[in-house]
Amino acid sequence: MRDNITKKYSNGEITVVWKPGLCIHSTNCWKGLGSVFKPNERPWVQMDGATSEQIMAQVEKCPSGALSYFRNDAEAAPEPTSTTPTVEVTFDGPLVITGDIVIKHQDGTEEIRKKTSLCRCGQSGKKPFCDGTHTKVGFKS
Ligand code: SF4
Ligand code: FES
Repeated sequence: MRDNITKKYSNGEITVVWKPGLCIHSTNCWKGLGSVFKPNERPWVQMDGATSEQIMAQVEKCPSGALSYFRNDAEAAPEPTSTTPTVEVTFDGPLVITGDIVIKHQDGTEEIRKKTSLCRCGQSGKKPFCDGTHTKVGFKS
């Protein structure tokens, strides 16, 4: 099932992790760094298209958590400290939450996310998460 797919792309220094089931099609990645993120090509993430710093900066702008990265020498690095969550109310779009949060679902399950987008338009097919439907329905707020 697409929701459970995880793919990884490395340039030897960092690895970009791609979870297509979380993508809300914000277009941030390919509009922001089209030399690396090429949705019409395979592989669609081409790690030789920019420096590691540029790729990391762009991945951090992914609002859904579909894209993330780790440094390949992460074992040697200290554990990152947790961050105070912030909630950004985006124009005509979801609540983008950045920081360590625990989501408690109605069925009692819990999951930890570092970045996620929660639906604000009420039309998502994957509530509580945004699935990009706000664009199709012309949500304004
Ligand atoms: S949600 Fe993330 S991976 Fe999906 S298009 Fe937007 S920036 Fe790219
Ligand atoms: S805010 Fe994105 S689907 Fe509702």
